[in-house]
Amino acid sequence: MSDPAKAPAKDPQRAALAVERLRTEFRIDGAWHAAVDDISFSIARRETLALVGESGCGKSMTALSVMGLVPRPQGRIAAGRILLDGADLVKLPEPALEKLRGTRVAMIFQEPMTSLNPVMTIGAQVAESLTVHQGLSRRAAEAKALAVLDEVKIPSAARRFHEYPHQFSGGMRQRVMIAMAIACQPAVLLADEPTTALDVTIQAQVLGLLADLRERHGMAMLFITHNLGVVAQIADRVAVMYAGQIVEQAPVAAIFASPAHLYTRALFAAIPRLDLPDQALAAIPGRVPPLDAMPTGCRFAPRCPMVQAGCEQPQVLAPVQVSMSAGHSARCHVATGYRVAA
Ligand SMILES: Nc1ncnc2c1ncn2[C@@H]1O[C@H](COP(=O)(O)OP(=O)(O)O)[C@@H](O)[C@H]1O
Ligand SMILES: [Mg+2]
Repeated sequence: MSDPAKAPAKDPQRAALAVERLRTEFRIDGAWHAAVDDISFSIARRETLALVGESGCGKSMTALSVMGLVPRPQGRIAAGRILLDGADLVKLPEPALEKLRGTRVAMIFQEPMTSLNPVMTIGAQVAESLTVHQGLSRRAAEAKALAVLDEVKIPSAARRFHEYPHQFSGGMRQRVMIAMAIACQPAVLLADEPTTALDVTIQAQVLGLLADLRERHGMAMLFITHNLGVVAQIADRVAVMYAGQIVEQAPVAAIFASPAHLYTRALFAAIPRLDLPDQALAAIPGRVPPLDAMPTGCRFAPRCPMVQAGCEQPQVLAPVQVSMSAGHSARCHVATGYRVAA
């Protein structure tokens, strides 16, 4: 289903998606506070960046910012650029954004049941997204919808085309959501915890499918998860997010071999061991600070087992290259040996 005529001229050096110093805020008691605070990352075509962190760290707000779906009026993008194939989405008026959404950049949400219309057949829903975004006739949209449902490996797609969401299992519903997201061949796919609600076997199948689609369509993928096992399966690079900030960024092998930031290390320590069934997930003690009560300096310091003098200083937030590893940086002066001036 590739359509080279539709794709814009490619600059191989240019990232498909580049987020630069993005700040997204919410208004709380009359004052604006950052839920996403000065984050930067980029993703190339055919690359998957995993965005990892506990619940409440700003992962979904990052994706919603890229989609232009920050809830208003209580939320806003306050600063930064979001470059999609070189064009800054932050500056685009809503009608132009609306056009890009679903066609150049698409998102898969965690809960397929809340995103699907329960009284509309699966086929009609996928076809509808194609008539809306691509202006296809009903007949052409239905033919393409069927092809896309086949592509996401819905068994007997022609028959199941006429079924309703409740007749589909969780894994199959998530495949339908993926079909709707990729139907218009977006350049960038944002997947927000798309497998969290699925059991491990189905999860592995969906991850395999996403990796395959990314490869075939040359998409750049932002994959949001709090599950490091999933990261190992799908990501090329990892950005660890804590309290609205990216605290560590690295190629996937480097972060598994030598996690630097104490928060990343705590996340790794919280992975349940596969060889010990029924083991409770070791949670990190303490909680993510609320938006209106962020510590100065390192935001993980109040929960950090290795907190030291200097951690409270704002300078510790500068990302510092970790050892000799290319593309590996962390905002932790304890881990990087970065000296904070007194
Ligand atoms: N509509 C909203 N109004 C106010 N605060 C919000 C809203 N949505 C999210 N937040 C806050 O923004 C922060 C980041 O949330 P979110 O991006 O959903 O986290 P994650 O996806 O990492 O779990 C949290 O502190 C959350 O409470
Ligand atoms: Mg979320």
